[in-house]
Amino acid sequence: MTEISQRKADHINLALQAEHQGALSAGFDRIQFEHNALPELLVSEVDCSAIFLNQYCSAPLIIGAMTGGCEHGESINRHLAEAAEQAQIPMAVGSQRAALQDGLAQDVRRWAPKAILLGNLGGTQLQQHGVELAQRAVDSIEANAMIIHLNPLQELVQPDGDRDWRGVLAAIEECCATLSVPVIIKEVGSGIGPSSAQRLIDVGVSWIEIAGRGGTSWASIESARIQQTREQQIAAPFIDWGMDTAQLIPQVRSQSSQLGLIASGGLRDGLDIARSLRLGANMSAMAQPFLQPALESTDAVIEKIEIFREQLRWAMFLTGSANLKRLQSAPLLSI
Ligand SMILES: Cc1cc2nc3c(=O)[nH]c(=O)nc-3n(C[C@H](O)[C@H](O)[C@H](O)COP(=O)(O)O)c2cc1C
Repeated sequence: MTEISQRKADHINLALQAEHQGALSAGFDRIQFEHNALPELLVSEVDCSAIFLNQYCSAPLIIGAMTGGCEHGESINRHLAEAAEQAQIPMAVGSQRAALQDGLAQDVRRWAPKAILLGNLGGTQLQQHGVELAQRAVDSIEANAMIIHLNPLQELVQPDGDRDWRGVLAAIEECCATLSVPVIIKEVGSGIGPSSAQRLIDVGVSWIEIAGRGGTSWASIESARIQQTREQQIAAPFIDWGMDTAQLIPQVRSQSSQLGLIASGGLRDGLDIARSLRLGANMSAMAQPFLQPALESTDAVIEKIEIFREQLRWAMFLTGSANLKRLQSAPLLSI
């Protein structure tokens, strides 16, 4: 097993453990809808569908980026991709760096011929290898959009992680100007705040995925992987570093009404999807909740999607929202 494959396998094993889920909540428990005792709706007619990148989705939910380059990688991606195709929701693949470097075939498109697929590379890979690598990532899976992830804390905790973040914004700007598909910028669990969002908007980014604190903690996972106690001591105060997802969504939305906004980081059910849309997101994404089902089967992933979609439908019914547009103005008790 290569070093990258071993790291990815460790990530999967550790991400499944509750202790590496953020100790602090993503903040959705503080967002309370006003209950509508008179919905005046037929449940089966509540419309959860969304349009993303000009295409139909059965729900405003994306399967979040997870890893592929390891022992279980192929079956995980196959289960996720087949489920995305059948359930008609988008899927983000995990980092394509290893596959592109090693010249490995990326079969995800074969399993999801019609689904919306989102490619994935890191900001520092973009800075090091330029837009040409991003275009290869897009082409290899016929991606509908390209995600660039920003993970400075995760890289710091990895002893051999990237330390040079100069020029990442310029590389993103070039990518937005020349790539053949839209670019989505995401974090991995510390969140993208209003100042960073504004700098991204200023260089032409039209979609941001928040990936705030409250879900999978990469500082915690990477810290568990390193053996050196000195490095663990340095990382210790940063285990819960970051910004709550629920707090960030309205702040980033207030920067721009035109920005495409994907809520992620600690969303754990369909009610969280409803809350994040009410706070200003256009779409939502979940990663860790799909990991265990993805290790099992395509049907297990589909069942998870259906449960989340039904929870979203209930939340819409109980707030008297016939569609997502109505949900976005449903009354809140506290915000
Ligand atoms: C096992 C695993 C692997 C991940 N790999 C990637 C990756 O390769 N690229 C990326 O952008 N994000 C990656 N993430 C981060 C997720 O996409 C997401 O931003 C983060 O986990 C927060 O969402 P969650 O709380 O729903 O898990 C990974 C997450 C998990 C659980």
